[in-house]
Amino acid sequence: MSRPFAIALIGQKFMGRAHSNAWSQAARFFDLGLTPLLHTVSAREPRELEQFAERWGWLNTTTDWRDIVGYDDIELVDIGTPNHVHAEPAIAMLEARKHVACEKPLAGTLEDARAMAKAARQAARRGVKTFVWFNYRRCPAMALAQRLVREGKLGAIRHVRAHYLQDWGGPTTPLSWRFQRKLAGSGAHGDLNAHIVDLARFLVGEEVSEVHGALARTFVHERPLPDAPRKRGKSDVDDCVLFLASFAGGATASFEASRLAPGHQNDNSIELNGEKGSLRFSFENMNVLELCEVSDKRTDGWKRIMCTAAGLHPYAAAWWPDAHVLGYEHGFVNMAADILRVLDGKAPEAPLPDFEDAYQTQRVLEAALLSARERCAIKLSEVK
Ligand SMILES: NC(=O)c1ccc[n+]([C@@H]2O[C@H](COP(=O)([O-])OP(=O)(O)OC[C@H]3O[C@@H](n4cnc5c(N)ncnc54)[C@H](O)[C@@H]3O)[C@@H](O)[C@H]2O)c1
Repeated sequence: MSRPFAIALIGQKFMGRAHSNAWSQAARFFDLGLTPLLHTVSAREPRELEQFAERWGWLNTTTDWRDIVGYDDIELVDIGTPNHVHAEPAIAMLEARKHVACEKPLAGTLEDARAMAKAARQAARRGVKTFVWFNYRRCPAMALAQRLVREGKLGAIRHVRAHYLQDWGGPTTPLSWRFQRKLAGSGAHGDLNAHIVDLARFLVGEEVSEVHGALARTFVHERPLPDAPRKRGKSDVDDCVLFLASFAGGATASFEASRLAPGHQNDNSIELNGEKGSLRFSFENMNVLELCEVSDKRTDGWKRIMCTAAGLHPYAAAWWPDAHVLGYEHGFVNMAADILRVLDGKAPEAPLPDFEDAYQTQRVLEAALLSARERCAIKLSEVK
């Protein structure tokens, strides 16, 4: 028998929808010991919030997330708010002994991320767990890639080449929290590089040891205000950040994030080159993993693996017959299922990032920003 497991959600827009769908679907597709009960949703706009709750089946609403602390029956709090509204609710919920699943990046600033990691360490002593929604780990192709690397299929990793490019950040895009440093912390960097740094660490299985150089640039300095389009407000985050890094085991890595790359809509791409072969993935073709094995010079080349075979590929057994492909939302459902498995004392299908893990990604992001600002290399040991 599956036990009802009460969840609260903070934030009801883009990620609010993705997460509500994930909690709603997880126990329908996966056999789980815990079945999510959509207890309470919190966000700022009361009218939208009521409609949202009705549409997605949340039982209660509140415009003050602090109310959630008072519900003893809520066991996990899911945070899908802008980056400056991660630390305070996360720490409050951990202190109230509730598990927390927070959106990425862990926070807008390293200071907030450090405080969250510290609170998570303290809460862990009381059995409280943390999770961070680095959802791309849970595309079957990425979870398979991680297994193949662990099994030694590529041998020692020499190079990681990652970019995450989008095209929506031009000058006509209205100002929002995403373009304000005091709210977001950074622009394309925290938004997009956060994902590919997490993926690279996940796949290589090592920490980044040094950022050798970085370039951050803002091209768009003003944007129309959403409620008064003739007026303009200051856009003060990076539009792109590029950097070079080393992993502890010696692999070289390049990362590039941009919101100003026409032709790339959600191009989250990563390639690994090892001594015995290579792997590559692009989210715009997310069901496919490409593998090149160095074995016979006459036949070496890229092999296209459709990662949809039940029993062979991670998560595939829960979904559809072979090649009935998955999409963006399935990564979130897979993640919700893994969170529920872990909270039920079972192993996840692929390793889940917790606050400590996401704090290591945040340190890499900070090192890149420091490197761009100071125009020098930054050892990760210098970034606490
Ligand atoms: N994992 C991913 O692929 C992915 C994709 C997009 C966004 N994100 C992350 O998710 C988070 C939210 O992004 P989004 O795109 O959903 O933002 P959004 O602007 O679409 O939604 C933000 C929501 O937060 C609510 N909110 C803001 N301040 C609040 C407060 N003080 N109390 C209660 N609710 C509050 C708003 O009412 C709104 O419902 C960010 O950290 C972002 O980086 C992750």
